[in-house]
Amino acid sequence: MLFFDRKKIKGKEAERERKLPQHIGIIMDGNGRWAKKRGLPRTAGHSVGASTFKNIAKYCNKIGLKYLTVYAFSTENWKRPQEEVDAIMDLFRQYLKDSISSLDNDNIKIRFIGDISALADDLQKLIKEAEEDTADATGLTLNIAINYGGRQEIVAAAKKLCEDISKGILDPSDISEEEISKRIYTAGQPDPDLIIRPSGEKRISNFMLWQSAYTEFWYSDVLWPDFSPRHLEMAIDDYNKRIRRFGGI
Ligand code: FPP
Repeated sequence: MLFFDRKKIKGKEAERERKLPQHIGIIMDGNGRWAKKRGLPRTAGHSVGASTFKNIAKYCNKIGLKYLTVYAFSTENWKRPQEEVDAIMDLFRQYLKDSISSLDNDNIKIRFIGDISALADDLQKLIKEAEEDTADATGLTLNIAINYGGRQEIVAAAKKLCEDISKGILDPSDISEEEISKRIYTAGQPDPDLIIRPSGEKRISNFMLWQSAYTEFWYSDVLWPDFSPRHLEMAIDDYNKRIRRFGGI
């Protein structure tokens, strides 16, 4: 089922009251275990995981979510067997080619976060092209984290701060949370309200460390290839029950 009709289940009253987060982060985990359970190579799990990603991004766009950040490849994932890394890179390649060639990209703005300079040249070109092609889209902003690490992001922001200080753009006494936020990959975007991690793991795994200071978390045992709009709706419903205090009372 591509689109989940929550109205049929919840009724109009609940629909009216529902708060949609502005920004959701997803750690897409469990592809390998999904494949293993079926006696398939891990790469088959990534391939189905890529379809789940496209389905969920479309769904988020349809329900009016403003920002979605997905963790697709971490700075640590290079340690995996070369064959698996190559297969994941091929999935990125295919997704980018499809996005660029498709005339109707559902008005989704595609952005990449992470150290893109370490990727193959053709992939970097495709990324640039997809970002340029969708720059004026007004629907969902989709951040795809590739060769991304939360600590690496903070280090990169610290380097930019130092550069700006040495150029005289910034005085050390002006370093503040705002100045750091302006130099992280998601600068200008709201912090994630909700981070979702399927597959039963309850770790942050170096994802959006700076941005997640007050983020709500939602975990599920479902493996990423089996994740559906229904699970996303469960996470949003649960988010609606949370009382966010941001350190206050
Ligand atoms: C983690 O599951 C998943 C990854 C490291 C790769 C995620 C990539 C995709 C879902 C494809 C995304 C495609 C596009 C186009 C963005 P795991 O392999 O660690 O699973 P395991 O913990 O069960 O082994």
